[in-house]
Amino acid sequence: MVASLQKSRHYMTALLSSTIILLLLYLQNSLLVFTYRSYGSVSERSTCACSICVADRENSNWFSERYNPDIPILLNSTNSVLNANVSRWWEELQYSQNAGNFTEVANQLFPLFPNKEHYSDAGPDRCRTCAVVGNSGNLLGSRYGPLIDYHDFVMRINKGPIEGYEKDVGSKTTHRIMYPESAIDLDNSTHLVLLPFKILDMQWLISAFTTENITETYMKVPSTVNANKDKVMIIHPEFIRYVYDNWAEGHGRYPSTGFLTLIFALHICDEVNVFGFGATSDGFWHHYFEEIFTSYEYGVHGGKFENETIIRLQQENKILIHRGWR
Ligand SMILES: *[C@@H]1O[C@H](CO)[C@@H](O)[C@H](O)[C@H]1NC(C)=O
Ligand SMILES: *[C@@H]1O[C@H](CO)[C@@H](O)[C@H](O)[C@H]1NC(C)=O
Ligand SMILES: *[C@@H]1O[C@H](CO)[C@@H](O)[C@H](O)[C@H]1NC(C)=O
Ligand SMILES: *[C@@H]1O[C@H](CO)[C@@H](O)[C@H](O)[C@H]1NC(C)=O
Ligand SMILES: *[C@@H]1O[C@H](CO)[C@@H](O)[C@H](O)[C@H]1NC(C)=O
Ligand SMILES: *[C@@H]1O[C@H](CO)[C@@H](O)[C@H](O)[C@H]1NC(C)=O
Repeated sequence: MVASLQKSRHYMTALLSSTIILLLLYLQNSLLVFTYRSYGSVSERSTCACSICVADRENSNWFSERYNPDIPILLNSTNSVLNANVSRWWEELQYSQNAGNFTEVANQLFPLFPNKEHYSDAGPDRCRTCAVVGNSGNLLGSRYGPLIDYHDFVMRINKGPIEGYEKDVGSKTTHRIMYPESAIDLDNSTHLVLLPFKILDMQWLISAFTTENITETYMKVPSTVNANKDKVMIIHPEFIRYVYDNWAEGHGRYPSTGFLTLIFALHICDEVNVFGFGATSDGFWHHYFEEIFTSYEYGVHGGKFENETIIRLQQENKILIHRGWR
């Protein structure tokens, strides 16, 4: 009798605790379902799978007034006729009068280089992270290397070297944005992204992979570069004009390479982290790889305005700037 009472008490306890466990499980589960649902509804509205997506335009009027998702980014055989405005402005940038015919040169590009839309894969399932690496001296001693290499795309600018600076600038390069006067050799896995400021730049690109007979523009340039022909891309002149109009708001003669690269990243990435932009903390403007000091105001670019735009992009949660420590 006593034994059976004890047994049933045991039984009751067991029943009770399993009920509690079940109840807890249920609660936990519904909590999960709840979180999942609300997460789902967020990502339904989102343009990508990262926690914050560059291209989401609801949360910033300032951004959506400037950002045009339909602008042609890369030149190809079907978008190589320039609209009159762009053509007039872009031709003013040429330093030589009879530079040639844009469309005719463009038509020579595409039997040679890939003629495709590389970045039309944006969508709610993609989270593409990008590091835009400028050449500022504030990279020195930063130890950003591993962080930079962790990104899906690592974009570098002009001659910014890697060798000897890996700890601070990383060792991976998926894209290098350059023009003839700033060209260097690339490894086989890097996209050569030509920023054409003139028709001769496109002619140089052709020559560099064929006849190698263009050896100077307004200065001596390399007659050829080591690079993978199947990874060459050419920024569309209309994109350059768009950056000038919408993001530099007409400051300077044309936008700087760093600024253009950053806006390029806004258009092909979901998350953009910025390294090596700006002065060192004591106000010096120089490259991490050479001791030449420059004034930001100097030259053809609207440096001060570009700086303000970049800072605003961070305030609007579109980019994250990593300033280094010095
Ligand atoms: C050309 O530029 C002018 C002045 O900036 C502007 O009013 C006009 O709408 C532009 N036309 C095209 C086709 O973009
Ligand atoms: C450039 O070439 C294209 C195609 O050959 C031609 O239709 C166009 O009129 C030319 N443009 C100029 C400004 O000569
Ligand atoms: C060329 O680029 C445009 C966007 O500017 C795109 O719509 C078109 O599909 C591209 N053409 C090719 C052949 O990839
Ligand atoms: C570079 O990559 C291409 C494929 O994009 C391949 O065909 C070629 O053999 C590679 N070249 C070298 C030197 O590795
Ligand atoms: C380079 O070679 C091509 C083809 O032979 C020729 O059409 C072009 O005029 C040459 N350019 C220079 C700058 O010598
Ligand atoms: C860039 O803008 C920030 C914020 O307005 C300012 O503190 C900084 O001095 C600017 N840098 C330059 C070089 O203009």
